[in-house]
Amino acid sequence: MELNHLEMIEAAKNHFGKIIEEQLARIERMKANAEFVDYENKDKIVIGIVGGDGIGPFITSEAEKVLAFLLKEDVEKGRIVFKNIDGLTIENRAACGKAIPDDVLAELKACDVILKGPTTTPREGDKWPNIESANVAMRRELDLFANVRPVSVPEKGIDWTFYRENTEGGYAVGSKGIHVNDDLAIDFTVATQEGSDRIIRAAFDYAKKSGKNKVTVVTKANVIKTTDGKFLDTAKAIAKEYPEVEMDDWYIDIMTAKLVDEKRRSQFKVMVLPNLYGDILTDEAAEFQGGVGTAGSANIGKRYAMFEAIHGSAPRMVDEGRGQYADPCSIIRAAGMLLEHIGYGDEAKKLQMALDICGTYEKKLTITGRDTGATGAQYAQYLMDTLSREDLAEAYASYQK
Ligand code: IPM
Ligand code: MG
Repeated sequence: MELNHLEMIEAAKNHFGKIIEEQLARIERMKANAEFVDYENKDKIVIGIVGGDGIGPFITSEAEKVLAFLLKEDVEKGRIVFKNIDGLTIENRAACGKAIPDDVLAELKACDVILKGPTTTPREGDKWPNIESANVAMRRELDLFANVRPVSVPEKGIDWTFYRENTEGGYAVGSKGIHVNDDLAIDFTVATQEGSDRIIRAAFDYAKKSGKNKVTVVTKANVIKTTDGKFLDTAKAIAKEYPEVEMDDWYIDIMTAKLVDEKRRSQFKVMVLPNLYGDILTDEAAEFQGGVGTAGSANIGKRYAMFEAIHGSAPRMVDEGRGQYADPCSIIRAAGMLLEHIGYGDEAKKLQMALDICGTYEKKLTITGRDTGATGAQYAQYLMDTLSREDLAEAYASYQK
């Protein structure tokens, strides 16, 4: 019995030792990769288009059309190059037994930025093997540490930007917990100095640059004292470097409640938080704006960035032959974030105006997900027609009154 325990402890120690080794190596890689890419001075920017699963290829190809339309001149000059990357389907990932097959990863690494359709994440009990989520693997492999999720509902005074840490916390070694025996399972959560620094700085930089000048740090440092404690202490230290930015800190439980408090919620502007809390809070937040299907998400690293819709792959729509009726708007919003990120801010602004005109004000076409509404292709054409309007800015301004 005793000996059995000793063996179990030894095995668990070995496992833990490997995890620590991997994390120490990751810290070295983070330190070596300290500078952001300067897109303005690049002669060529490669945009990877990853269809993903289910409705993904349908909506992603519409977003690509809109991007190609807005970037036409630079595509012709060869400054912008689109690269289609297949192979991130659940069928192929299952066949290779990998979250991201090796050849697909190599193709991703040959891009600068990526627009990604939804990818099915296998879960217990479904027909797929237990492979890791492609999202989580891509964030880790490309070191996309900042998950930026804006949520805006002007009529409710909501203008939030979430900076969710995207590579650490419970996700860093999420697939490497230990079943010590049938009775004892242990998972790990990780915070590093470098990892906390870079996400918190990104949030403060944004708060300063945007003039929002307020950062709310969300943790559960009263209970998860070591890792969340490190995150919060790091935030307090960094806040001193940004005297113009006000910082406050909240625990995740009360923060979840305050988002529904109409009197308090408009005081929040920029929020920075560890991975899992960010995962949960951003779904709640997106609900005020019309659901997770309406939100786009930017996954930003120093070398690479990936932009995605945060809804699922809706395989049933494709099984029922309705893929062409899927709504491309949230991936097109993600494409807008991509434009902004690579230095095409004017084009991003035009796209946002066109999306708002078509979707909120003018509504000449609606998407129902069936043949009772427009197809994604018709909607993308409607957007491009709107983008071509000489009076786009005036029309948008008139709706704002
Ligand atoms: C998200 C998703 C992913 C996450 C899933 C699909 C693994 O919920 O992007 O928020 O938990 O990060
Ligand atoms: Mg989520």
